[in-house]
Amino acid sequence: MKIDIISVVPELLDSPFAHSIMKRAKDKGLLEVKVINLRDHTNYPRAQVDDYAFGGGAGMVMMIEPLVNAIESLQKETTYDEVIYLTPDGETFNQRMANQLSLKNNLLIICGHYKGIDQRVRDHFITKEISIGDYVLSGGELGAAVLVDAIGRLIPGVLNDETSALTDSFQDDLLAPPVYTRPEEFRGWKVPDVLLSGNHKLIEEWRMEEALKRTEEKRPDLLDENY
Ligand code: ADE
Repeated sequence: MKIDIISVVPELLDSPFAHSIMKRAKDKGLLEVKVINLRDHTNYPRAQVDDYAFGGGAGMVMMIEPLVNAIESLQKETTYDEVIYLTPDGETFNQRMANQLSLKNNLLIICGHYKGIDQRVRDHFITKEISIGDYVLSGGELGAAVLVDAIGRLIPGVLNDETSALTDSFQDDLLAPPVYTRPEEFRGWKVPDVLLSGNHKLIEEWRMEEALKRTEEKRPDLLDENY
């Protein structure tokens, strides 16, 4: 999968994909992430990419021309399955969306800043608007990092058996059950006997019960939606 990201602060995205699972995905050739500096696509003096909002009011708006220049020059090279704009008024990101997007070949993500991007870009170029939660970030870059991480780890071959996404929270609309590792006892706090029993059927049943219990306690809304 190829993911291109348009940003005015590309440095913010130097680190998130350079380590751990995202690095492995890139090293294996399963994920290619390219960050494009919007300022390389403006013809305005001093690399200007934003301007005052028509109608007045506080805050700057990202101008249409640099964004369209950047999008169209990328579209000459690549046909994107989705052109995504990260914005607090988008559809809230969740695991289902991550699953769907992980099946695509090419994604373009546009990171907003200031008061957002000129509405005409949204009207004519954006195919999907995504929020990562009901709060406002100073820009879309951290949201882009969240998206790429959540999507990238689902690409077939990125995770191995030990890190398989199948047992993640949300994959079956349940939160994941508790997990334990060595030692079996610490300060008198013991690992549940069933996990040491070697009985895989009992262990699976215990995990399902615990996942349901945890979901009922912490996120009953997930059960209402899906059961
Ligand atoms: N940009 C600013 N806030 C955001 C949010 N909550 N989600 C995605 N992009 C954003």
